[in-house]
Amino acid sequence: MNSNDQGMPFTPEIDADSPLPDIGRERIIASERFDSPAFRDKEWSRVFRRVWNMGPREEEIRSPGDFVTHELGRESFIFIRDQNEKLRCFFNVCQHRGNQLIPDAKCGNRRFLKCQFHAWAWNIDGTIKAVPDAHTFPGLKNGLPCGELDLTEVRIDTWGGWIWFNIDGEAPPLLEFLGVIPEHLNPYKMQDMRLYEYKSFQWECNWKAGADAFNESYHFRGIHPQMLKWSEARASIELLGEHSRMINRYGTTSPPHMNEKELFPELKQWLSFYGMDPEAYEGRPEDVRLAKQKYAREMQHDTHYPYVHLRDDQLSDVYHYFVFPNVVFNTFAEGINVFRHRPHETDPNKMYYDLLLLAHIPPDHDVQFEYKKFTTPVKYGEIFDNPQPKIITEVMQQDADNLQYVQAGIRSEGFKGMYLGDQELRVRHFHNMIDKYMGG
Ligand code: FES
Ligand SMILES: [Fe+2]
Repeated sequence: MNSNDQGMPFTPEIDADSPLPDIGRERIIASERFDSPAFRDKEWSRVFRRVWNMGPREEEIRSPGDFVTHELGRESFIFIRDQNEKLRCFFNVCQHRGNQLIPDAKCGNRRFLKCQFHAWAWNIDGTIKAVPDAHTFPGLKNGLPCGELDLTEVRIDTWGGWIWFNIDGEAPPLLEFLGVIPEHLNPYKMQDMRLYEYKSFQWECNWKAGADAFNESYHFRGIHPQMLKWSEARASIELLGEHSRMINRYGTTSPPHMNEKELFPELKQWLSFYGMDPEAYEGRPEDVRLAKQKYAREMQHDTHYPYVHLRDDQLSDVYHYFVFPNVVFNTFAEGINVFRHRPHETDPNKMYYDLLLLAHIPPDHDVQFEYKKFTTPVKYGEIFDNPQPKIITEVMQQDADNLQYVQAGIRSEGFKGMYLGDQELRVRHFHNMIDKYMGG
């Protein structure tokens, strides 16, 4: 059965019997790749300027004049809805002497964009509006020119409720770049989800070390042993063109926690999170996911969640999509936890980790959160406006706390390069794709 009863195609499964592709075995030599300014500069021009980058949500920019600023590496961008309701993206830079046009606001509403240095101003469609003492500029004696002093616009497109931007303007169309991802995620209806939490964290590692840490679940046993009591660490993996995915069963257990009788507190948390009563559960710990599937299926016609479009396993398991070069959609039936790994503006030994939480939320339900950017270490259990399950914030803490040590070690002359196994196939694939872009 490839589609549900309403004719919408299901997300394809991963065929567990098909062998993993052979995409190389050699070590991935790490040092330059993770810390050199030369590599970072080339990465900027060959990777980030060429791909479709994920910017703000469309829902953040609803009315004319609404804007969001977004940083990526050395650049800052203004995403704004113009007076004709058209979404636009501009480099966040004044065309007079290069001051940042919006230096200090993440979002807001502006009737026009005025630079605080000499008060030049632009309309929200990027056209020049006013230059004080224009008659003192030889080129402006006959009035403001058409085009020449307009803001520098960036190509954008939308998919999944997100605004995507392509800096060099030469990428193939967005949907072509995304390949099968939109078709795979379509049943989850990401465009209808709402952002209910958004925080950025500075981490002391290269952005690719951050991306790598989320592209495999081989590390559960080492650093997140509690995940073995609420999910299956051995994911099925599939490469999808430049992108990739893995599927982890949730609401289950991994070795060594098999065939146990008592329900772990972690699985009780998981059940409670979905509104189920852990005390009423009578099956084996590894089968908790089946109870969740049944529970969701029974209410599928009386809920705002898209259960009706999803196969049973999607009602419990996490479909983890990586969109090259730096976006993760950690997808479950009720919402998507989105991670974006951004390079730091100057230092290749630092990065920003954006955590954007989306969920299907009824329209009459108010959502409250405040965007915050943390540049020093935080306690992840204490900083969210909408409290997260304890296990999730613990896992974030473990990842965040460890990455500084990965960065320190990966630069050592004693490190001979990353030695990767099958469970880390997506890590290898990611670096292969980086190399492909860097070479071209
Ligand atoms: S730099 Fe913006 S008005 Fe002069
Ligand atoms: Fe992790």
